[in-house]
Amino acid sequence: MLHDFAPERETFQRDVLQGLQKPCKELFSKYFYDEEGSLLFEQICELDEYYPTRTEISIMQQHGQEIAALLGPGCLLIEYGSGSSLKTRLLLDALQTPAAYVPIDISKELLLQSVASLASDYLGLEILPVCADYTSAFTIPACTRPVARRVGYYPGSTIGNFDPEPAKQFLLQIARTCQGGGLLIGVDLKKDFNILHRAYNDQQGVTAQFNKHLLVRINQELGANFQINQFGHYAFYNPGESRVEMHLVSLKHQVVCISDIEISFNLGESIWTESSYKYTLEEFAQLAATAGFTVEQVWTDSRNFFSVQYLRCNG
Ligand code: AVI
Repeated sequence: MLHDFAPERETFQRDVLQGLQKPCKELFSKYFYDEEGSLLFEQICELDEYYPTRTEISIMQQHGQEIAALLGPGCLLIEYGSGSSLKTRLLLDALQTPAAYVPIDISKELLLQSVASLASDYLGLEILPVCADYTSAFTIPACTRPVARRVGYYPGSTIGNFDPEPAKQFLLQIARTCQGGGLLIGVDLKKDFNILHRAYNDQQGVTAQFNKHLLVRINQELGANFQINQFGHYAFYNPGESRVEMHLVSLKHQVVCISDIEISFNLGESIWTESSYKYTLEEFAQLAATAGFTVEQVWTDSRNFFSVQYLRCNG
């Protein structure tokens, strides 16, 4: 049974209008991920330039048994932003008798599809899907089997899409949910700026399409009239802030109408659509500590591009 806490259209409309009426216009990156946006993100993950997914998968393949042993038998695996649950399969293959799997995703269609496919491949695994914005309040469904510990799973370095304070708040939320257990998390690491630049400016333009999809979605769901080709994709690494910033830049002076409200854009004015923070291992350990976690084990690839980390909840 699906536990449905999906955000309402009104919440989307309110967030969009508030974001676009700020002096520096911005939109929440969580709104990229409707069905179409999630598919575009999956295409990004396949790109030659986008190293994180491939690297994280190789770490999981290499260390799956060790990771599963650390999580232990009887764990309740709670995945934040499960998408198509592809990486989870590597974990589920290695885990010893998990109590149940709780995938949480904002995209209902994708969630239901991936649950159907997992259910046919993992007979006997209790799957308790939750459709929700995982940063908001929702309850973890009860499972049938006894739970040895709750373990959060947050791959993909999606933690990098939060500014530092919200990142701490979100980790605190997971620490409360998984008290006595832990969190398995993927964290992208600092590296050569050019590699970062290429990862967010791919030659095929898939990342640009993903970025502009936010405007397509606002047109479709809120009846707005964005001219998509009058905005440009602009992504760069900001070393002072340790983050890749993604923007949509207005290519002319224009006025856009959303739910009877006019929003004007100057030539060159941008909408900030996403940040993707990159960490050193020390910086991330400090952030985790502020949220009540201790880093127990870190696995990286040979180039130190990406890390998978097991954090234990203190206390
Ligand atoms: C989901 N998240 C970790 C991706 C990232 O790298 O920040 C989203 C993304 N944006 C552009 N490319 C990929």
